[in-house]
Amino acid sequence: MIVKTPPLGWNSWNTFGHNINETMIKEMADAMVETGLRDAGYEYLVIDDCWSLHERDENGKLVADPEKFPGGMKAVADYVHSKGLKFGMYSCDGTMTCARYPSSFDYEFIDAATFAEWGVDFLKYDNCNRPVNYPGRLLYKRMGLALANCGRDILFSACNWGVDNSPEWIKETGAHMWRSTGDIVDNWQSIKDLTLAQLPLLKTNGQGCFNDMDMLVVGMGGKGNVGVGGCTVEEYRTHFSIWAFFGSPLMIGCDIRDMSEETKAILMNKEVLAVNQDPAYRQPFEINTVHWASELAWSAWARFMENGDIALGFFNLSDHNTNPCLAMADLGLGGRSGKALKIRDLWAGEDLGTFKDQFVANVPAHGARLFRGQIVDA
Ligand code: GLA
Repeated sequence: MIVKTPPLGWNSWNTFGHNINETMIKEMADAMVETGLRDAGYEYLVIDDCWSLHERDENGKLVADPEKFPGGMKAVADYVHSKGLKFGMYSCDGTMTCARYPSSFDYEFIDAATFAEWGVDFLKYDNCNRPVNYPGRLLYKRMGLALANCGRDILFSACNWGVDNSPEWIKETGAHMWRSTGDIVDNWQSIKDLTLAQLPLLKTNGQGCFNDMDMLVVGMGGKGNVGVGGCTVEEYRTHFSIWAFFGSPLMIGCDIRDMSEETKAILMNKEVLAVNQDPAYRQPFEINTVHWASELAWSAWARFMENGDIALGFFNLSDHNTNPCLAMADLGLGGRSGKALKIRDLWAGEDLGTFKDQFVANVPAHGARLFRGQIVDA
């Protein structure tokens, strides 16, 4: 199984935590279809921690909690599949999951076989309660091997939060995406912290194994399991812009049964999603960064698209409005090249004109602007 673009989907953790059940999950599957999320490309519906009983069965197999999932997991998977979606589940490389449910240490092949039998297409694999002397580098490889031999294509989503030098070895394990950050919570400080932590790791992101900046908090409005404070709509748009532009998987975390029009407009902007899902998957590079009092205030980034266009991301992490300036010479345009950039504003959905020397855009405090430029004759 080769994963060519960042996976898109929904995950239960950010809003629901342990509060999950079959009815709610089926309603999420319905909502993914009815809201248009599925057709916009969101494909995986993932149940996170807290789905099982506290004991394995007599054969050592994990058992879905019958109170939460009375029909069993195969029935949930079948329902999710009947909606044209893929089904994801969760386990962990230690003896217990982070929420202290049984986990896959020493049961890797049995659990991979169980997941395959249930029709699971995606496994999020966490990193809590690892026995001493068993490094993640070994345990993630064990599960990677078990999944690759379970007889079903299961996307391996390694979640070790970027610790233990994982950028050095995560691709050895067969992971298709890996959590390159700590846990997100629903506030601006968290979005800013995760963005800054991601910058040195961007060079490791790429096809086959994507840096996962953690699930989205867009639309949570301070409610739910990680709803600590909430963000403004502008901040949610910035969060989504950065995750999308940096090529992170986009796993929605809000209650999609009840999304505002603003939330829908953020999550389903086709032109922004097209940048995230660009088939060439080239890494973003920084073209202009300004620090204030030694803190990164704002930065301007570019990413070359498969069709020759250039995507531009202007991100303002500061508390002040800014007017970043992009010199076309920094992209090899203008001057003797005879070429200029015809620029479209992806959030406004507007063509802004053709620029041959420089391009300046206002970016409000905590804001982001995304553009796509086409190379044309000056
Ligand atoms: C860890 C992960 C989270 C979530 C919880 C579940 O903290 O990083 O994304 O899966 O465990 O307990």
